Amino acid sequence: MRIIFFAGKGGTGKTSIAAATGIRAAEMGKKTVIMSLDVAHSLSDIFDLEKNLLDQNKGRPVQINPDLYIQEIDIQEEIKRYWRDIHRYLSRLFNTTGLDEVLAEELAILPGMEEVSLLLYINQYVQKKEYDVILLDCAPTGESLRFISIPATLEWYMKKIFKLERTLARYVGPVAKRFTDVPLPDDDYFKALEELFGRLKGVDQILTNPKITTVRLITNPEKVVIKETQRAFMYFCLYKMSIDAIIMNRIFPQQITESYFKSWIKDQQQHREAAEHIFNPVPILSVDLFQGEILGYPKLKRLAQQLYGRKNPLQRFYKEEPYQLVKENGNYHLKLKLPFLLKKDVELNKYFDELIVRIGGFKRNILLPRQVSSKEQVNAKLDGQVLDICFKGAEDGS
Ligand SMILES: Nc1ncnc2c1ncn2[C@@H]1O[C@H](COP(=O)(O)OP(=O)(O)OP(=O)(O)O)[C@@H](O)[C@H]1O
Ligand SMILES: [Mg+2]
Repeated sequence: MRIIFFAGKGGTGKTSIAAATGIRAAEMGKKTVIMSLDVAHSLSDIFDLEKNLLDQNKGRPVQINPDLYIQEIDIQEEIKRYWRDIHRYLSRLFNTTGLDEVLAEELAILPGMEEVSLLLYINQYVQKKEYDVILLDCAPTGESLRFISIPATLEWYMKKIFKLERTLARYVGPVAKRFTDVPLPDDDYFKALEELFGRLKGVDQILTNPKITTVRLITNPEKVVIKETQRAFMYFCLYKMSIDAIIMNRIFPQQITESYFKSWIKDQQQHREAAEHIFNPVPILSVDLFQGEILGYPKLKRLAQQLYGRKNPLQRFYKEEPYQLVKENGNYHLKLKLPFLLKKDVELNKYFDELIVRIGGFKRNILLPRQVSSKEQVNAKLDGQVLDICFKGAEDGS
């Protein structure tokens, strides 16, 4: 079983590279599905597929050769399949608050529903061993980053909030009904949430197991794009996902001699060298700028050849894990490898058995193991690329 995410800034080449990797994996005899979370759904265009072939499939996988499938999630269909009760409650809620019905229906599509739907598929495919390889063509960075936080957030929500909310709805509900028209969530809503959570169970372990899941960040040799890649790198680490390669796409090929491109080529060279330092020791795989768009099977195969050469595209190109809990001199240390982090950007709070790590707009609640959560003192230091959080407590004599 192998899962690879292809993530990066808009337009860097994620869909093309996911497709090329899929072709290679299928040629190796691995049953492969390329899934897209991209609302623009460009996978079908890249493979030159008839639009109605996908429409007929309503967001289910479409087989394009014996071992290769593509799947573009259709959120309206997903709502019909999995989200009915949750969606019904939310649209009723918005509707009673004065919105017209169509708008209420639309608003009731929660941010993250597409992503959760995708997680449901991943979990199903892994548990039922339906595919050997799952490749994820992510939406541009801003949105796909929200996605990586979902499994951890859901787990936290279920452990911390869900039970409380349900009890409140049960006892407060009948009283509140007398005072307000706003509907309170009923038991169907909670049952649906609970079932959903059940279906997601285990997906976070799958995504954070580097033997199964890795991320490849697609970038271009441009300053702004590389900066965003660094940020994405750090956030993926925060959510405990392993990055096994950086893919530098759209490099001007050697044979361009026109003087017009000279400074472009020089700039690209500089950015590539900088990237080598920045991402070291994670390997960088390179792809040239092709003549024209990359459409259709033959061109995608050429892309795969450039990218991987004779290498196995499913191997883990880099193996170090970003997360460790170790005991040193009697104290527990949680070590998070967070390259590009500056100390001033990180904020830590410990709240009973939770550690809340905030970096920029991102927050991760880490549920601490028992032996650590009882410690009262928490210190953190930034040791090179590693955020070293030390937990000390009385019983250690410190
Ligand atoms: N190496 C390359 N040479 C030439 N054209 C390329 C190359 N890589 C990607 N393209 C073209 O650039 C466009 C964007 O590529 P692609 O759709 O793969 O990017 P993306 O990261 O998925 O974009 P989005 O963020 O919009 O989903 C496409 O037209 C694609 O054919
Ligand atoms: Mg795309």
